[in-house]
Amino acid sequence: MRRFESKYGYFDETAREYVITTPHTPRPWVNVICPGDWGLVLSQTGGGYSWRTHASLNAITRWSQDIVRDNWGKYIYARDDNSGEIWSLSWMPARRKPDRYRVRHGIGYSVIESENSGISSELTVTVPPGEPLEVWLVELSNDGSEDRELSLFTYFEWCLGASPDWHREFHRTFIETSIEPDASTMWARKRLWEIPNDRGEAWNRPWEYSAFHASSLDAAGFEGDKEAFLGMYGDLARPAAVARGVLSNSHGKWTDAIGSIHVKIKLPAGEKRRVSFLLGAVEAGREDDARAQIAQYRDPGEAADAMRRASEFWCDLLKPYEVRTPDEAFNIMNNTWLPYQAISGRMWGRTGYYQAGGAYGFRDQLQDSQVFLPLDPSETAKQIKLHGAHQYVDGHVDHWWHPISEIGGGGLYSDDLLWLPFVTIGYLKETGDYALLDEEVPYRDGEPESIWQHCIRAIDLSLSRRSERGLPLMLGGDWNDGMNAVGTEGRGESVWVAEFLCTILPDIAHVARRRGEEEAASRYEQAWRELADAVNSHGWSAEGGWYIRAICDDGTLIGDPGCKYGKIFLNAQVWAIMSGIATGKRAESAWRAVVKHLSVDSGPVLFAPAYGEPDERIGYLTRYAPGVRENGGRYTHAATWAMIAAAIMGDSSEAWQMYSRICPVRCGSSPDVYKAEPYVTPGNVAGPDSDRYCEGGWTWYTGSATWLFRVGSEWLLGVRPEWDGLRIDPCIPAHWDGFSMRRNFRGATYEIHVKNPDHVSSGVFRMIMDGRKIDGCLLPIVGDGRVHRVEITLGKSNKD
Ligand code: GLC
Repeated sequence: MRRFESKYGYFDETAREYVITTPHTPRPWVNVICPGDWGLVLSQTGGGYSWRTHASLNAITRWSQDIVRDNWGKYIYARDDNSGEIWSLSWMPARRKPDRYRVRHGIGYSVIESENSGISSELTVTVPPGEPLEVWLVELSNDGSEDRELSLFTYFEWCLGASPDWHREFHRTFIETSIEPDASTMWARKRLWEIPNDRGEAWNRPWEYSAFHASSLDAAGFEGDKEAFLGMYGDLARPAAVARGVLSNSHGKWTDAIGSIHVKIKLPAGEKRRVSFLLGAVEAGREDDARAQIAQYRDPGEAADAMRRASEFWCDLLKPYEVRTPDEAFNIMNNTWLPYQAISGRMWGRTGYYQAGGAYGFRDQLQDSQVFLPLDPSETAKQIKLHGAHQYVDGHVDHWWHPISEIGGGGLYSDDLLWLPFVTIGYLKETGDYALLDEEVPYRDGEPESIWQHCIRAIDLSLSRRSERGLPLMLGGDWNDGMNAVGTEGRGESVWVAEFLCTILPDIAHVARRRGEEEAASRYEQAWRELADAVNSHGWSAEGGWYIRAICDDGTLIGDPGCKYGKIFLNAQVWAIMSGIATGKRAESAWRAVVKHLSVDSGPVLFAPAYGEPDERIGYLTRYAPGVRENGGRYTHAATWAMIAAAIMGDSSEAWQMYSRICPVRCGSSPDVYKAEPYVTPGNVAGPDSDRYCEGGWTWYTGSATWLFRVGSEWLLGVRPEWDGLRIDPCIPAHWDGFSMRRNFRGATYEIHVKNPDHVSSGVFRMIMDGRKIDGCLLPIVGDGRVHRVEITLGKSNKD
């Protein structure tokens, strides 16, 4: 069924697809498909790129970021060998006007359907889980009454290493293409990889893979040379080789290397033919593995099977969690697209169209890994250990690092290290798996220690970095990367880091006590009181009635009503409420200030008003255009936290107002204003101080996906893992009749059905599990591997 249809497309919830009905979307609307190692980005015009393990250190194909032209991709041309007519199976690059065009982005695959010149084509692109390759399955149908003779030509540029290889004239001299003697495969290798070798020498290491491109049909020809394919000064819309209908079989050293295979297909009237293409890369020396895969995939049935396996893989991964609420948009996002975006785009792909990435951010992928908590928490544990191994003995951590090369650094951020205990606590509450705390992982510069010790070193270092007034030092920045000048002289303070610490400390004290470390537990409780006092004494603006955000090295306040720009900041209020630092009247006042000054049509903005001119004392956030990204835009990641505060404050109408303004499905109902994909979260949406107010950008590669998923589930629906059970504390729209959720928790499955006969927005009246009444609103831990039916009634009366 078509849901949330706009002039550009609609959701097909049964197929779990977003269907795009025209190539002319307001921005590239892409899919990021990465089931672990190999990955690709594909736009609705056919644009995008492929990588293995790391999207910018190990890019397989060349791509250049251009969201307006979207003209770099891996393409397939079709040619009618009788008439010479040329088109492409995706709209780019031939840019013919197709008679029909649809792109179906699914979880783990995309299908580009098109009709040109009486030929229908369906191009399915997928990455089979566990395999270092992607499969393009083409199905051609001759809808006319004449037999046709067609040629297909694939086309892309080899990158083979660091991307973008902007200095192509240098890099091409290291690339070599070859053709397998049986003419089944094109190979590509590169003798240089930009990362240091094991002796630490730069520019002295080969690219350690062999890339391959193959087809299920015998090739009529290959092309490895861009000039031979396009023609000098040629045009991607009508390459010389495609116009001629023959490839020159050029390959070898060291041309401007492309990959192209030509296959010929006889297509009688009314018939269909299938052909598949592969693009992959194996470790050098393991070419026989690739040959085996190529032999397997010569059967296009295998390609169809790969597509089925890929789709099953993703469905199985998301299966443990499902919600049904009266808000269809919420269901679509929480059941499918948010976890898919978070896992495929952020955790495994770590890249998108607005940012080609590949590195790990210490705080970023740790937070992202929370998406696995209700799905497969062992993946969260893996991430905790990986990040623990990027900490130093003194407690500080790498701000980011590259997989493959392990190059990284930047330990000056005051919050990075605290995400380790923060996410570890989330993992413990979800799983009760305290054994993780005793697992040992090494430091970057030291011997292995337990995860618990890693967490303690993070907290202790953080607590030791406080100003004379007891507020944490800002140092090189905190969660807000753009505040990179506030504390560089070592005096600036972050009110938010104090609040963040105070969110963590009670749980750390709880765990310490459970481990018999009473002295540590009381020390952390004492630290909580000191920090809370410091925030309430030095971080409260009586004039504004809200919390200030930070103090610069020179004592300038940030987020104070006396400031010209940035008078009030979202995080400072929200985390004061989340941490319990703000209580009673102060919490009320801070929350009212958020609603009044920050909650606008784009969703809650990071602060207001936006900086109108750069401020050297604060940092690069003031240099962005006003209302854009961290400069007073809706930064979706932080906007999700505002709904936690709304839930704590019991303000369900504001919580859901914010939700509907943040939910991409709803934003997508004004597609020409919003522009971004309606099925994934954008990193930012322009705020009121921008002339592009409500325009979304930086989709896919944003930490907001996991958080929107988590906040929706745990704070809006209010089903929240706690130390002693699963808390049921909904904050829902009062008009809802109820909702249901299926979710695993500590070794059992809970089928939760919530009824709302009195139409309230919160408050559990009665809970029944497996026919037995439960006092309070904490579902017990049963851990018996079974399914348990839970019936909950909200409200005050006994109506059903
Ligand atoms: C970017 C960074 C993230 C940071 C956020 C806010 O998304 O990746 O680490 O917290 O910006 O500045």
